[in-house]
Amino acid sequence: MVSSDKSKKLQKDIDSALKQAEEVTEVVKKISEVKDSDDLKKIEGIEISEVAKKLLGTEVSAAVKEITKGLSLNTEGIEELRTKLVGRKSAITGVLRHIKDLDQIKKKIVGQKTNQIKSQFEQPTKQIISNFSSLKLEEKLKETAFDFTLPGKIPPIGNKHLVTQIIDEVAQIFVGLGYQVAEGPEVELDYYNFTALNTPADHPARSLQDTFYLEGVKDTENPEEAVLLRTHTSPVQIRVMEKRKPPLYIIAPGKAFRRDVADPSHTPMFHQIEGLAVDKDLSFGDLKGTLEVFVKQLFGEDRAVRFRPHFFPFTEPSAEVDVSCALCMGEGCRLCGSGWLEILGCGMVDPNVLEEVGVDSEEYGGFAFGMGVERIAVLKHGLDDIRRLYDNDVRFLEQF
Ligand code: DAH
Repeated sequence: MVSSDKSKKLQKDIDSALKQAEEVTEVVKKISEVKDSDDLKKIEGIEISEVAKKLLGTEVSAAVKEITKGLSLNTEGIEELRTKLVGRKSAITGVLRHIKDLDQIKKKIVGQKTNQIKSQFEQPTKQIISNFSSLKLEEKLKETAFDFTLPGKIPPIGNKHLVTQIIDEVAQIFVGLGYQVAEGPEVELDYYNFTALNTPADHPARSLQDTFYLEGVKDTENPEEAVLLRTHTSPVQIRVMEKRKPPLYIIAPGKAFRRDVADPSHTPMFHQIEGLAVDKDLSFGDLKGTLEVFVKQLFGEDRAVRFRPHFFPFTEPSAEVDVSCALCMGEGCRLCGSGWLEILGCGMVDPNVLEEVGVDSEEYGGFAFGMGVERIAVLKHGLDDIRRLYDNDVRFLEQF
């Protein structure tokens, strides 16, 4: 805050200095005109500090006048002020310059006096200059109402959650292979989650114990209209095929929900990335080639891929895919046991699924795959517990 007291005081100093200006001119004249011992006596009585003050006053007032005329108090302005106060053209230097014309005695006395004046003069001059600059700064601060001297606040820069990073990375790889990214609802109808995916009514996943049903809507007359939290991202296959005709190449990342008790490798909510390709003449070889390219891009060229026969209701044949362990490269170790780590399920789309959405299974075929995002996070980063992904501890999350 600029104290108006301060600027008032400065103005007062200037005013009184102006008033004294004439008197000072006289003093300076007297000193510089010392000719004989009578003259010397005249100046001997003058209080040195008084002269200094008055002299300073004159110079300051002159300089201040200059400044207020438009000279801004930047570095140059301050320098100009200094020059006027103690510089070569200042009154004090004028006096000193005159000394050489005096005889020995005069020289000694006038020289002494003037130098005393000068030394008394210099400190207050510096003071005045610094007062001036701080006053100027205060004024500036007041104008902008912002304190430039306060330390800045550095906002913390966040980063994408590891799950989002992996989804982005996987999407990037498949987009590179010509796939499009699709989405579907997390709150899903029984029909899309099970029936349309060739999953029979007696499948254990359909039981109340296994799946989150939304209250009140389970016991509708038509069980297919029961509403649940989707147990996988596979229903997006159906939703996409209902709307669009093949050829289709899509991936669908998103959340899935299961009635699992949380433990180091399970959480009731987790993420999957679904893949679906529907086209003419797609073979199991296309599926293998696609997933091999994908795995090597995600985990590295040195990793091997293995297909193991498996069963899924919506694919025939079906397989589970393993990637060779990064630690032992397939030899078998403490981390993997067998040398292989499971990363996804896949298979050739069951003709029943295609027919369900009106795709001619004689003309078109397809393959599908689904992977767990958290599982990939474990394999890529060696996480010991997937629950850490959802503790929301920034110290953990900011490592990725
Ligand atoms: N939906 C399966 C699951 O959650 C994973 C899966 C397996 C998806 C095979 C597929 C697939 O698309 O073809 O376990």
